[in-house]
Amino acid sequence: MNFQPIFKMSAGISFLFLTLLMVSGWGLSGGYIPSESEAFSSILYLRKMGGIGQMIRSIHFYLSSGLIISGFIFLITFYLLGYVSLYKKQWYFSLAIYFLVIGSCFTGYLLPMDQNAFWGTQIRLGIVETIPFIGLTLANLLRGGLTFGSETLSRFFTIHGSLFPLILSIISLLLIQYQWESIKTVLSKVSILIGTSLGMVLIYIGTYSISAPLELPANPIDVEYIPRPEWYFLWLFEFGKYVEWAPWIRSTLLPFAGTLFLIGLPLLKQHSLKQRFTIATVWCGVWLILTGLTLYADRNLPNKLDYEAAMFIQAGENYTSLCYDCHGTVGKGDGPQSKTFDLETPDFTTEKYWLETDDFKMIKTIRDGKGKDMPDFKKNLNTHQIEAMVDYIKRSFSTLK
Ligand code: HEC
Repeated sequence: MNFQPIFKMSAGISFLFLTLLMVSGWGLSGGYIPSESEAFSSILYLRKMGGIGQMIRSIHFYLSSGLIISGFIFLITFYLLGYVSLYKKQWYFSLAIYFLVIGSCFTGYLLPMDQNAFWGTQIRLGIVETIPFIGLTLANLLRGGLTFGSETLSRFFTIHGSLFPLILSIISLLLIQYQWESIKTVLSKVSILIGTSLGMVLIYIGTYSISAPLELPANPIDVEYIPRPEWYFLWLFEFGKYVEWAPWIRSTLLPFAGTLFLIGLPLLKQHSLKQRFTIATVWCGVWLILTGLTLYADRNLPNKLDYEAAMFIQAGENYTSLCYDCHGTVGKGDGPQSKTFDLETPDFTTEKYWLETDDFKMIKTIRDGKGKDMPDFKKNLNTHQIEAMVDYIKRSFSTLK
């Protein structure tokens, strides 16, 4: 089998993805606020506004997975072609880039500050802590202290948005001078250009309709929450369950052995094609089996709810506990309290109600109260929850569609 075209193609595509990730990252940092209280809102804002901001975020999110795949194919064909001992420098530069990309995924994961980001990062830092001798120091360095705090997010943001991109750009420039020929060939082929343009259009359409996930904002009290990492970190997460008696196997032995193997490859005696093929198959096979086992073990976990869906459910619960008494089960304004106290409670199921009101009025009434009978809820519900409540009332009770 001829791996040459796959090798060149994956080099060109990885280069393209890396560039797009840098560009979309710049774009995102324009709208992102790296503070514990604002980070989530700034991402939610992009999501709510839709349009280009939302798209840039989705591109950034999906391309990171894309780069993990294309980079992996690049590394494995690099090895299969037997180039590893011939082009040592290129191999090390590529490895460095790949590790930095993985590090960027590790740090970028926290930035949206939703439930998954927060709890996933707790687990990741927990894994780092189990590295013998230096684990705790390293975790504290990343966290900016013994516990997760405001310092943590700003450290992760600095590493993700400034430090790693800087090193990545320098190493990529060094590597490009070697790989320039293959990048040029890839980029100059009309078929590939057309393919890439089509791919970009698909990414454009795809990321517009399937936006990058966002869950409820991080809630440090909700210890029941089960985070789930991206697919490529999945095995590392779950593997821990099998080696609870010796957590360093997961945090140190495996990554260390893997890294040592990759670094040592150029120094070994040149493998024959058959040997290379076997090693590469084992390499991919182990990873596939571990990921497959994890997916199998996780098959019964409940599906993750996106922000809007989770807010809708939460609004329903809030409605039952805070509003039902007056507004009634189906929003007719006939709750038990409205009857006893003879309140003039509106009927959300009538056309008349919806013709007289609008989102703004509803939000204001829920926040500040109205008349003598409608209490204000600014202490119970935040702005996002009030907006979700309006959406809930509309979708559940309005007969005007
Ligand atoms: C103690 C009774 C009571 C409770 C509890 C209550 N409401 Fe009301 N609500 C009323 C009354 C009475 C009105 C009519 C006020 C008026 O028009 O002067 C009203 C009006 C409204 C309106 C109409 C506002 C407009 O301008 O269109 C909305 C929306 C509303 N309530 C939402 C809620 C929500 C959401 C909750 C729970 C978080 C809630 N209410 C809890 C009594 C209540």
